[in-house]
Amino acid sequence: MTSELSEKILEYLSKCDEIDSLDLAKIFQEDHQKVIGAIKSLQAIGNLINANQVNTKRWELTEEGQHVLKFGSHEAAVYNAISENGSPQAEIMKTVTYAKVGLSKALAAGWVEIDKNDKSVVKRKVASIIDTPQVHLMNLSEVPENIKKEYKKRKFLQEVVIKSVLLSKGESFSTKVEKQEADVTADLLVNDAWKEKKFKPYNFDALGSALDVGHLHPLLKVRAEFRKIFLEMGFTEMPTNNYVESSFWNFDALFQPQQHPARDAHDTFFVAEPKLSTCFPENYLKKVKEVHSVGGYGSQGYRYDWKFEEAQKNLLRTHTTAVSARMLYKLMQDGEFKPVKYFSIDRVFRNETLDATHLAEFHQIEGVVADFDLSLGDLIGTLYEFFSKLGITQLEFKPAYNPYTEPSMEIFCFHNGLGKWIEIGNSGIFRPEMLLPMGLPENVNVIAWGLSLERPTMIKYGLNNIRDLVGPKVDLQMVHDNPLCRLDKNDPRSVQEKRRKSDELSKSIVNQRQETCVQDIVIFCDPKYPLYTLETLLSIFKRDFSISVSVHSHSSVQKLPDHLVEFCSEFRTSRKNVDFEITFIWKIVGVDPQMQISAIREFSGETNIARFLNRLVEERKPNLLRYESNGALYAYQIDAFLDRINESLHCLDSKNKLKNLRALIKGQYLMGDEISIADIVLQSICRNLGK
Ligand code: PHE
Repeated sequence: MTSELSEKILEYLSKCDEIDSLDLAKIFQEDHQKVIGAIKSLQAIGNLINANQVNTKRWELTEEGQHVLKFGSHEAAVYNAISENGSPQAEIMKTVTYAKVGLSKALAAGWVEIDKNDKSVVKRKVASIIDTPQVHLMNLSEVPENIKKEYKKRKFLQEVVIKSVLLSKGESFSTKVEKQEADVTADLLVNDAWKEKKFKPYNFDALGSALDVGHLHPLLKVRAEFRKIFLEMGFTEMPTNNYVESSFWNFDALFQPQQHPARDAHDTFFVAEPKLSTCFPENYLKKVKEVHSVGGYGSQGYRYDWKFEEAQKNLLRTHTTAVSARMLYKLMQDGEFKPVKYFSIDRVFRNETLDATHLAEFHQIEGVVADFDLSLGDLIGTLYEFFSKLGITQLEFKPAYNPYTEPSMEIFCFHNGLGKWIEIGNSGIFRPEMLLPMGLPENVNVIAWGLSLERPTMIKYGLNNIRDLVGPKVDLQMVHDNPLCRLDKNDPRSVQEKRRKSDELSKSIVNQRQETCVQDIVIFCDPKYPLYTLETLLSIFKRDFSISVSVHSHSSVQKLPDHLVEFCSEFRTSRKNVDFEITFIWKIVGVDPQMQISAIREFSGETNIARFLNRLVEERKPNLLRYESNGALYAYQIDAFLDRINESLHCLDSKNKLKNLRALIKGQYLMGDEISIADIVLQSICRNLGK
């Protein structure tokens, strides 16, 4: 059903050829937005009206402009404030708004002067003035454009763009609008009445209304993700519902000596009330005391006077490994050893110096696997499996030290989004000094690892201050606005993994198509990162191959920048039976262009596309642009350069990194005297960055 306003609009339009929505708003004394709403609903009813969006620029007074309109220009205000015999500058400065600008303008206009005898006094220089700016602002339509620009500079005026809609009669214009049905009802079905009715089309562009539901904090969402990974891998969650722990379970059970600096109040929060724990498994406690003070199980221990009072001290647990220790002890109390996989994600506390990435409390994610004869290889394999479920496939390990694990390893991963290696966790194999007093069989090993929940969450959500994630400064809107579901933009596959896949793919395609011509190549490219590599490559290939490129714009690209209008223009012929037929589509795809071959295979990234095209021509003309035809070592070196270029392109400081890469060029090109795709890609990317 059309509203009254829609009908009024049609009525009005029936009497004229064209009318602007802004004028309609004035005529009907309605809010412009409402008029637009009514026009939209008319547009939905077929060809009733034609509506074209128009942008009109209009000059508007700024707040300062309004002031000038009311009280005169700043220079006039200064002039008027000066009394007949002159006034002290200081007084003018105090009483006149915008006095500073006003005085310099009035001096420049020759309206006022500084008293030659007393420099602190200003005097009028002329008997009367005409305040042109004020006169101009009173009637803007008379003011020439260049003077308006002058007032814009003085911040009296601003140019605003007003969007409106120009209406004219459509093909099936009528002032009568038939009511459109929104639903097929039982009534309409009876007697086939629906056949005569018009139905409102679906509006697929309408946005759904925001869900009126609670929103999970990012930490909870990432926690759920980790939990799911552990559960998928068959781990059981440990009960971590005790923030307060005794030093015994937090440190002693883990073979952490009582003099260890982490056990100092500088690092650990001790609890004042209740200060001490009293209930410990006696037998086990004795064994722990023994292994610390005199050793056992093949270990010489730390050889110090182990004190029960120290073990009794209550604290806020500094790691969830305290819970793992309790669980492993409990496992043996339940009877015979059975292999287990445990995990926990919960809060721990440390007396840290607070900064942008550290708080005194955070969450730890911990995984523990106990089984017969586990080795370091099992730990590494498990870590690969665990992190690959997060999309992290490149790991490196660095020897580390924990009192309770031997060997211990810090875990690093390559983060594609950040373009660098970052530390993500700590791991190791629990020491016999920890496990044997609990009664675990000698041939059982326990591998374990831990990481913080906050760090991956901050990276995922692009936060660089932990206070934006935890604590009183958290912006609840941030929690509310975060998507319900995240499809990470950075393909989590590592750079090398991506390369390997695309190499395999391009080799197989090259093999399939050696003799035939290559058609059906579609490239999607973001105008922000033009694929200049393609232009350069084609200009090399054209010596021996016939090429045709058709260029299009996807609807995500509103307006193509002028400098791209001529992109690949040299190859835009519509010849058939060419060697290369490329469809090139400008589309907002981000930094990595996408390439599809025969609509079935796809790979992404400027370097990968360059490799593929190079291989394609090399199969038939090995000397055109040398790559693999020059031997594996040569190709390997080019690949290494391409990888570095690709990595730099994805890092924050890409400009400098690429500059450093360029500095590597010793001869004329990266590979010495002969140009290669690495040079072409490097130049292309540098050309983009220079823009
Ligand atoms: N407890 C260690 C930490 O707090 C993490 C860890 C757990 C290390 C298990 C090794 C084994 O950093």
